[in-house]
Amino acid sequence: MIPRVLSGIQPSGNLHIGNYLGALGNWVKIQHQYESIFCIVDLHAITVYQKPEELRSKIREIAGIFVAAGIDPEHSRIVVQSTVPAHAELAWLLTCVTPMGWLERMTQFKAKAAAQESIGDGLFQYPVLMAADILLYQANVVPVGEDQMQHLELARDIAQRFNSLYGDTFTMPATKLPSVGARIMGLDDPTAKMSKSASGSGHAVALLDPPDRIKKTIMRATTDSNPGVDFETMGPGVANLLAIFQAFSGWTDDAMRTNFSGMRYGDLKKQVAEMTISCLEPMQKRYQEITADPEYLDGILQRGADVVTPIANATVKLVKERMGIYTPAR
Ligand code: TRP
Repeated sequence: MIPRVLSGIQPSGNLHIGNYLGALGNWVKIQHQYESIFCIVDLHAITVYQKPEELRSKIREIAGIFVAAGIDPEHSRIVVQSTVPAHAELAWLLTCVTPMGWLERMTQFKAKAAAQESIGDGLFQYPVLMAADILLYQANVVPVGEDQMQHLELARDIAQRFNSLYGDTFTMPATKLPSVGARIMGLDDPTAKMSKSASGSGHAVALLDPPDRIKKTIMRATTDSNPGVDFETMGPGVANLLAIFQAFSGWTDDAMRTNFSGMRYGDLKKQVAEMTISCLEPMQKRYQEITADPEYLDGILQRGADVVTPIANATVKLVKERMGIYTPAR
């Protein structure tokens, strides 16, 4: 049987080059080796307040970017989480086997809760919903970044607990990740991972940013006090710029050293900006074409939901039977 891969992305904030080089670009590369499901997790997004109009358009935007970036809608399923009710249903069933203590230990919850005046219960349950996304499809492989590893471990723990309480039901998702991509840091603060939600215009290059804006953001990136690129002593800002160039260009380490050793930062940034712009341009052009026809995108999302719904419903049916909640006699 072909292994199944599943991943998800929240439709909040702008997808940026860190998302592409660290996640989306990898999904594109590996999608044909698997039965692939990529979710736009709108039910996760609303665990913190989203303006309805913005959320609505973000969901479409992300679907468009997926296709523009090379997710093949003839092969891979692009699914808006809320269009398959089984996600929410399984989440509740799993909530009932998840000790609160496990959720209280989640570092992302602690960080998000600390930044919030009042915390919705959904924020607390967030990792259970993510476990449901994964276990619903009996996914074998879940490519996520380092920051989601704790959630993935939790999904395994929940699966294990369910299996031992009610008998073998869920496939254990592997924690081994397929070749993870580059970890791109914030351009204004290269000690923190590039984030969709960070405010400030100097932080990230969004995938849909126009060329002049991309250039401006990169030219303003934090570097260090060396006079030029020194591979032995460079700080995290310079290393990040080089990582972006290398990830987009595919150059070898040797080629990077030969080309960039001693280069002044103004020139380095110019090259990074040009490489970034030229790699994003075809994607942006495809995005315009794809979104010019809203029905085309709707069709892809409808087909995604249609194909995965029977898989999801079969899991929920089995889980209900195992738990002993009502199932008709015939
Ligand atoms: N929590 C993930 C993130 O913020 C998004 C996500 C939701 C996800 N459900 C998932 C990732 C299932 C992988 C699998 O990045």
